Amino acid sequence: MSVSTWYEPKKFKLSGLHGISDATLELHFKLYEGYVQGTNILMEKLAGFLQDGKVDQEEMPAYSELTRRLGFEYNGMVLHEYYFGNLKIGGSGEPGGQSPFVKAAQTRHGSYDIWKTDFVGIGKMRGVGWAICYQDPSSGRLSNHWITLHEIGNIAGFKPVLVMDVWEHAFLLDYKPSERAKYIDAFFSNVDWNAVEQRMEPRT
Ligand SMILES: [Fe+2]
Repeated sequence: MSVSTWYEPKKFKLSGLHGISDATLELHFKLYEGYVQGTNILMEKLAGFLQDGKVDQEEMPAYSELTRRLGFEYNGMVLHEYYFGNLKIGGSGEPGGQSPFVKAAQTRHGSYDIWKTDFVGIGKMRGVGWAICYQDPSSGRLSNHWITLHEIGNIAGFKPVLVMDVWEHAFLLDYKPSERAKYIDAFFSNVDWNAVEQRMEPRT
């Protein structure tokens, strides 16, 4: 089975964002494509183990290690698609006051501003990872989480609705490592709130 039968990198037209340079985007798209390729390669190798209908004992160490790496590469691919997918050129900065997202944030956190304080605070945490606002599909409730690397901390079954990459590669060409807050401001100025709300369950 050819690697090309698995995933193809998606294309995102984001040139000209506010505060996130085209050079950063180009670097970031290449990294994302690496995760797509990494996912494809791992899936093909794992499929290879299964071709004879069993995993031999001597195959277990390699099979186990590749399976563990699959969560890293797979989430690396998927989270970048959510991230690029919730940005747009000419973003409005903040959602409208009566928007479904604001109403959901008010229900869960008391106000949009408190929700944002929480989300931005998570984004400023030391470490390599992501800030993600999820919606619990069973209740419609929002909750913000820190994800270490790409795969540690994701909540099973929850829907990512706003995804912010805070790995340093997301901003290091534009800001110093100590200026993550400036990058987070730039991120918010480019958020596509329509895209965020299209991810949400209609009950909110
Ligand atoms: Fe990234």
